[in-house]
Amino acid sequence: MKRKPIVIAHRGACGYLPEHTIAGKALAFAMGTDFVELDAVLTKDDRAIVFHDHYLNAMTDVADVFPGKKRKDGKFYAVDFTLEEIKELTIHERLHPDTGNAVYPGRFPKGSRINFGIPTLEEEIALVQGLNRSMRKDVGIYIEPKGPAYHRGEGKCIEDVVLDILKRYGYSSRDSRCYIQSFEPDSIRYMRNDLKSDLTMVQLIGDNTWEETPGVDYYRMMTPEGLDEVARYADLIGPWMNQIAVDEGKGREPMLTKLVAWAHERNMEVHPYTFRADALPSYAGSFDDLLEIFFVTISVDGVFTDFPDKVNDFLIRSGLR
Ligand code: G3P
Ligand code: CA
Repeated sequence: MKRKPIVIAHRGACGYLPEHTIAGKALAFAMGTDFVELDAVLTKDDRAIVFHDHYLNAMTDVADVFPGKKRKDGKFYAVDFTLEEIKELTIHERLHPDTGNAVYPGRFPKGSRINFGIPTLEEEIALVQGLNRSMRKDVGIYIEPKGPAYHRGEGKCIEDVVLDILKRYGYSSRDSRCYIQSFEPDSIRYMRNDLKSDLTMVQLIGDNTWEETPGVDYYRMMTPEGLDEVARYADLIGPWMNQIAVDEGKGREPMLTKLVAWAHERNMEVHPYTFRADALPSYAGSFDDLLEIFFVTISVDGVFTDFPDKVNDFLIRSGLR
């Protein structure tokens, strides 16, 4: 029997509070999310922090606090900072590094002087487990060890660090409320085959033009043969929403692909990213329109969203949960 679709709070409730803050994760809890999504990167001293980018420019005051630590490309890389140094930084709303303007202007004020810090993975898990206890919930974590190949290039193994922490906090089996996601098939194979992880593994699907994962052909991955291969090492897929409903431009209906049907034929659920009420595709007149297409017409099994309250509310109104 098909399970009820799930809500995955992408980087917390980041439509309302800066991404990957403890406050944003707590808000996602209060909004009824099923999972909180978290990205992890490593520090110089091999501590896992909850942060999306490899570099700190777009989300923190690093340029003011450590002006001398930027690399030649003008970026401040997390791997160049110890955890103690990372803890001196303050997070703000995501800004365009070139202009300093907010990426999503209607969200949390960019000039707020609240001392949001970068959490460690352990702190974030403690928050989730603490709130599960005090709120009598069973919210899961949906974790992406960021850029495994990039970390290898820096002499680090992010999968080893992350899986060790997860194990210490009780996440080790297929029944755990913990999904691992990666854009890199080799990383999933490494966690499954070498580290013998039994956690649920999610193959994220990017676009070849993004050139973020050299050597990975996502176009082939989205064919029946490609999905046969994915099903041999992963449990489900997390595609870009435009790979399911192709935005063909204003005034035109989206072109619906067969990706979800093909994945379901292979017993893989599908969790597309990223659903933003303030960044709609041109075919959607409203956020509800968008959710109707994905949950009712196409039957996806969950979505990554910056607005977990709105998705939860839609699912309840639609009788889907
Ligand atoms: O992890 C799935 C979704 O988060 C898409 O990737 O770039 O937001 O980490 P990103
Ligand atoms: Ca992510």
